[in-house]
Order: sequence, then structure tokens, then C-alpha cells
Amino acid sequence: MVHDLRVGMIGGGQIAKTHVLAYHSLGLLHQITSVRPVLASVAEANESLAMSAAGRLGFESWTEDWKVLTRSDKIELVDIITPTYMHAEQGIDGAEHGKHVLCEKPLATNAADAKRMYEAAKKAGVANMVGFNYRKVPAVTFARKLAQSRSLGKLFQFRASFQEDWAANAEMLLTWRYAKKTAGGGALADLGSHVVDLARFLIGDVKSVCGIQNTFIKERRVSQNSDERKPVDVDDSTIALLKFRGSDVLGRVETCWCAQGRKVFLEFEINGSDGSVYFNLERPNELQVYSSADPKDRLGMRTVLIGPAHPYGEAMVFPAAGTGMGYEDSVGNEIAELVESIENGKMNAEPTFYDGWKASEVLEAIRDSCTREAWVNLNS
Ligand SMILES: NC(=O)c1ccc[n+]([C@@H]2O[C@H](COP(=O)([O-])OP(=O)(O)OC[C@H]3O[C@@H](n4cnc5c(N)ncnc54)[C@H](O)[C@@H]3O)[C@@H](O)[C@H]2O)c1
Repeated sequence: MVHDLRVGMIGGGQIAKTHVLAYHSLGLLHQITSVRPVLASVAEANESLAMSAAGRLGFESWTEDWKVLTRSDKIELVDIITPTYMHAEQGIDGAEHGKHVLCEKPLATNAADAKRMYEAAKKAGVANMVGFNYRKVPAVTFARKLAQSRSLGKLFQFRASFQEDWAANAEMLLTWRYAKKTAGGGALADLGSHVVDLARFLIGDVKSVCGIQNTFIKERRVSQNSDERKPVDVDDSTIALLKFRGSDVLGRVETCWCAQGRKVFLEFEINGSDGSVYFNLERPNELQVYSSADPKDRLGMRTVLIGPAHPYGEAMVFPAAGTGMGYEDSVGNEIAELVESIENGKMNAEPTFYDGWKASEVLEAIRDSCTREAWVNLNS
């Protein structure tokens, strides 16, 4: 018997269609046949946005009150894709009303709220996932396998960077992303949250941090129809050094949304005693791999084409290396694991709200370090 998993989505903005595509791909790409996601209802900020989101995304119904979804007996999974300052209230309400919750990153604007979300989901025993989808890019999962299986030897260094350039446009309006109250931070919260999560995923828990940050465009226009500008109180760029718990690995993370020419330039390199790996999201189907055991006349970074032999390979549309998985597939892989964990009753698909909370702690420590111009230790 096929189980209809009724999904209520809160927020139908730019990233919503990726989630919708993922629900549609579960049977076709991931061979999940015991459950059929049903796009039951979408909540938006007002009636006209909600109606338009339902039509555009293919939901059966719409509402302008998200609590209709978090409290409905007819919804099983709440998918939160709203500005970050709304995540905590919506996620906690969903969990307290017995809903499984998928919430976009960063989990909350601050670590205390992220912890409350984690605790609410744990108490309710519901499945909970934070949208750190880059963990689910096959090349990234494979890099982790190489690092953790000691194929690279003892790990020495982790260097990661996430650079984009859309915010270099000084005429971009002062949206929710440019305010601490609504976003929790700037480039560090938006892009840096992914990088910090990758640091935890690829290397381990962070012990202490030391950062610097800057805001290059200090004011932005408040609306299209006005020249009035108001101050931006979040970073355009942050660079931080990391030390990890229980290991000697030295880390560096960088993030900026004003880096002209960089589009989704999410890169990382791990260097170990016996080898290295390098990944760049602008070339998602490649992993650069170096082994010091290669013959001397053939030493060099080798381009491994990601394909059926790699993680998530069975979900490829066309089973040939290099034909590729795209951005949307990382979200598809994430949602497939979440739905499987609901179906098998384990509710343990990662990254969970615990990971969202731990990443928020690191982000907060980096911000604190930037303000104090000092190293900051994390407690746990
Ligand atoms: N994982 C990723 O790669 C990725 C990429 C982009 C965005 N995100 C995250 O997704 C979230 C949303 O980002 P976005 O780019 O889609 O933003 P967006 O501004 O395009 O969309 C947010 C939507 O929420 C709606 N909304 C506002 N108030 C609401 C309310 N009370 N009830 C219901 N809906 C409401 C807005 O009208 C808007 O349509 C953020 O947390 C962001 O960090 C993640």
C-alpha cells in the first residue's frame, strides 16, 4: 500500500521550486515507491502570493496563515522555506503539533533559537532536517569518504570558501538578507553557514575560531520607488581560522557575496599526509584527487568524473560519469533521505536540527570573534 505523505510548504520564494522538484523525483530517481509525496498546501505572506505560489508550484491548496499547516491533521511534513527569522517559530510550532520538519538553512538567526528548535523536534520525536544540501552533492560525499577512510592519510588542512557576486550590485534593495534581525548575519549566515557545515561534515566539530569581517556597501535603498537608503548591519565578507576538536587539522573558511565574477564558487581542499582532494561547485561533477603513492612521473591532481560508482550514483538520470548531477539533485538527495527516514520510522536522516544548531554556534562564535578581535572557544 502506498503512503500519501502530505506536504505543507511555508514560503514559495526563489528556492521553493527546487524542493518541489525533489518531491517529484522520489519515485523516478530514488526508487522510493512505498510513499507518494502529495503537495497538499502552500503558505505565503498574503493571499495573492499564496494563490500564485500554489498555481506555480502545483499545490492543491494555499493559505496566508502558516499555522493552518503546522496545526493541520492533514499535513505530515512541514517544509519551511521562509526568511531565516521565521524559522524558529514555524519549526517549533510544527514539531509541537507532531509534524516532521524540513527547514532551510541557516536553521535560525542565532544559536539559542536553533537549540530550541533542536530540543522541540527531539521532544516530539519527529524527523527533522536542516537544508545543508551541499553535503548531498555526490562529489562532496565522496570527498568525505576519502577523508574519513584515511585514503588521504592523516588530515592536515581544510580550506573552504564560498564566493558569489550578486550583492556587489549597490543598487540591490535592502531585503531581509541585509539585516541581522531577519537573517542573523550577511554573507557569513547565508553562504558561510554552508561552509561551516561542510567543515563539520568533512572534518569534525569546531573547537575555536578567529575571524575578521567587513561590510563594503554600507547602505542600501529601501524600495524601488525611493532613493532613501538605510544602513546594512551585516557582513559582506568574513574570513575565519578554525581549530577542530580532537584533531590537529588547521582550517580556514572564507565567504563573500560581493566577489565579482564568482557565481556559486563553493570550493574546498583537504590536504592529508598521503593525498589531497579539491572540489568546486562550479564544476559539480568533478573531484580533484591527489595521491602521493602515484608513480613519480604521473604525480598531479587527477580529475575524477563523478558517476554511477559514486554516492547517489543510482539516482542519476543518465548513468554515465560526467553527465552530471546539478544543484537540484543535491536537494533531491537530501529530501529522499528525509522521506526514507520517515518511512522506516528511524527519523534520523542528517543533517538534523542538531547539525543546524552546531553550525549556528560556530557562526555566532565567528561573529563574536570578529567583534572582539580575538580567538573564541566553543563550549561543546
Ligand atoms: N539550501 C540552499 O542552497 C538555499 C538557497 C537559497 C535560499 N535558501 C534558504 O531558503 C530560505 C528562503 O530563501 P529564498 O531565497 O527562497 O527567499 P525568498 O525571499 O525568495 O523567499 C521567501 C518567501 O517566504 C515568503 N514569506 C514571507 N513571510 C511569510 C509568511 N508569514 N508565511 C509564509 N511565507 C512567507 C516570502 O513572501 C517569500 O516568497 C532562507 O532561509 C534561505 O537561506 C537556501
